[in-house]
Amino acid sequence: MSERLVDDALQAEDNLLELSLRPQTLSQYIGQTKVKDQLQIYITAARQREESLDHVLLYGPPGLGKTTLARVIANEMEVDVKSTTGPAIEKPGDLVALLNELSAGDVLFIDEIHRLPRIVEEVLYSAMEDFYVDIMVGQGPTAHAVRFPLPPFTLVGATTRAGMLSKPLRDRFGIVSHLEYYEEKDLEKILMRSASIFNTELVESGAVELARRSRGTPRIANRLLKRVRDYAEVKSNGVVDEACAHEALEMLGVDEAGLDVVDQKLLHAIIDLYHGGPVGLSTLAVNISEETDTVESMYEPYLIQKGFLKRTKMGRVATQKAYDHLGILFVAEKN
Ligand code: ADE
Repeated sequence: MSERLVDDALQAEDNLLELSLRPQTLSQYIGQTKVKDQLQIYITAARQREESLDHVLLYGPPGLGKTTLARVIANEMEVDVKSTTGPAIEKPGDLVALLNELSAGDVLFIDEIHRLPRIVEEVLYSAMEDFYVDIMVGQGPTAHAVRFPLPPFTLVGATTRAGMLSKPLRDRFGIVSHLEYYEEKDLEKILMRSASIFNTELVESGAVELARRSRGTPRIANRLLKRVRDYAEVKSNGVVDEACAHEALEMLGVDEAGLDVVDQKLLHAIIDLYHGGPVGLSTLAVNISEETDTVESMYEPYLIQKGFLKRTKMGRVATQKAYDHLGILFVAEKN
């Protein structure tokens, strides 16, 4: 896997920073207005009725704040949150152990819920719907189910791939929210807030430059801000202005459209090796030494949204805009 500055995976060095930057309440949470407005209503209503909030499914590309939002939801409901991930729950017993620790109203957050094993998912159905689980005890002729009642709780599931969720699981979420890439104006606000948290002077023009190149993703914006802050402190007076942001981002290989080395490699592979496509996803992934799933959930959505790439029945195709952006002349293939 390539080293990637605009990688969406949460890296160890970011943990502390991410924690301090995370908004705690819906009013501190910038952007995603539609999702926020809806959640505010459902949370207020549940609180008025003194009930647990209905189960929430958050889906969208990585880095847009699904984990943050799960914590904000718990905070606004004034309940505790337990966090885990789909692949970490290997067997029904693991899930029961987690559910057993919940108090009434608590939030159970399952990231990458599309990767939950099938046998675990089936246990989740009754837990979500009627707050109980049936566990098989004993073996052979003495095997029987024992029913465990659960406190009412809220499952918050997050996924980059809503399409990969089974229908019975998807149908059990009363609230389904799609997170979108952030507008540049919202990213600027997030950057200003982050800069003030770690005492960096960020000039508005610097924030505009960073926001423009952050792939609509707060996690990337915050990571770029850290690197540009380093650059500003070493190469100039520590103030992040437009020129400084520009120079630092050039040095990092993040181009004018916010595409990094891997994005560029992906587009180059389609154009240089397959005459602009179509090329199958798995072939493309092998060509750039990435996992198919990573290409599909992490790199492609932004390239598609920005009009550099198209998904067709025959495979992936680079658009004219991709040719123009990379400065490559499109020459029609001779038959
Ligand atoms: N930091 C990361 N995402 C954020 C958001 N949506 N609002 C405020 N701060 C953030």
